[in-house]
Amino acid sequence: MNFDSIITRRGSGSIKWDRRPELDPFWVADMDFVSPQPVLDAIQQRLSHGVLGYAQPHEGIAEALDSYLGSRHEVKVDEEQIVHLGGLVPALSLAARAFVKPGEEVMICTPVYYPFLHVAGDAKAETLAIPHVFSDGRWTFDWEQMEAQVSSKTKIFILCNPQNPLGRNFTPDEIIKVAEFCQRHDLVLVSDEIHCDLVLNEDEQAFYSALKLPENLREKLIVLQAPSKTYNIAGMGYAFAIIENPTIRRKFCAARGHTLAEINCLAFYAAEAAYKHGEPWRQELLAYLRKNRDTVTDFVRSELPACSIPFNEATYLALIDTRAAGIKNPAKVIEENAQVWVNDGAAFGAPDHFRFNYGCPHARVLEGLEKIKPALGF
Ligand SMILES: Cc1ncc(COP(=O)(O)O)c(C=O)c1O
Repeated sequence: MNFDSIITRRGSGSIKWDRRPELDPFWVADMDFVSPQPVLDAIQQRLSHGVLGYAQPHEGIAEALDSYLGSRHEVKVDEEQIVHLGGLVPALSLAARAFVKPGEEVMICTPVYYPFLHVAGDAKAETLAIPHVFSDGRWTFDWEQMEAQVSSKTKIFILCNPQNPLGRNFTPDEIIKVAEFCQRHDLVLVSDEIHCDLVLNEDEQAFYSALKLPENLREKLIVLQAPSKTYNIAGMGYAFAIIENPTIRRKFCAARGHTLAEINCLAFYAAEAAYKHGEPWRQELLAYLRKNRDTVTDFVRSELPACSIPFNEATYLALIDTRAAGIKNPAKVIEENAQVWVNDGAAFGAPDHFRFNYGCPHARVLEGLEKIKPALGF
């Protein structure tokens, strides 16, 4: 796969490129790469059948998930424990509506992918946000504050692992500690693992899914995964939940009511092909993203004095802190001075930061950085 190819996306009905065509986009989390050929072939093949009625999960998707979960996460999951969904964000909302009543709380740690901050609203509930802390050179949980602020009103904890936008791939010890915390306070643990196949140095620290927690810590667990970020098929709309406990699963599914559409019939086939045949492409992608990550990290550290960037263990999204450089609202400054679109950290709970998406050809990464530098006054 040639990840260096520049593909014209403008005019293709892309949120990233067409929402504000006057800006150069490095914002929303999708990549400017063509998906793996087997995925495109599977979609074409299903399309060529010609009849596109309501879909149900076919045998191939069940096989693909079984083998993916077994080989990547080393777990055996019964098919009945899987809930297929058209996207992961609706699952966050379902979890809030299923387990949290008006006036109760959804606990999250910030900064985090912005829907985490708002799903409590779908349940007319409150958000209890505990800031992550920077300790020993990396972002982790503020265990003391979590204990201090949790209460009988708190009903679920939504974990983002790998963490968007901090780029952490949490260790088994951290995940076990989160699960123990949830158990101690009788919280449903919802683990959003959408970026789990984007751990950039898997041989150094493999991803630890909450699915691997000891059985006693999995009683109130909802794990959410999807092939969408890794294989760049977010526009197809597919994700899945794994819920071992039948009571939790029933409640989660009941919260759907009549709010969700059927899943796109092409998406099941795209997901099947991604998991069955996407691995060589994924390995090439990870190597490419490591290079982009290193370029962005080195550039920020050498060319943007006083700005800081964490070392991304995962994802293709970097959160850059401009506070020590005295730059307020850097996303706005960058937009006004360079017509470049990056995400405003404030939306994630990190004001005076910006998020830069480096899931694009290397030449584009450099181009974006070279525009951002003078825009910030360096
Ligand atoms: C942590 C996280 N969860 C969920 C999503 C979106 O999921 P979906 O498009 O399946 O709703 C994103 C997209 O960036 C994300 O970063």
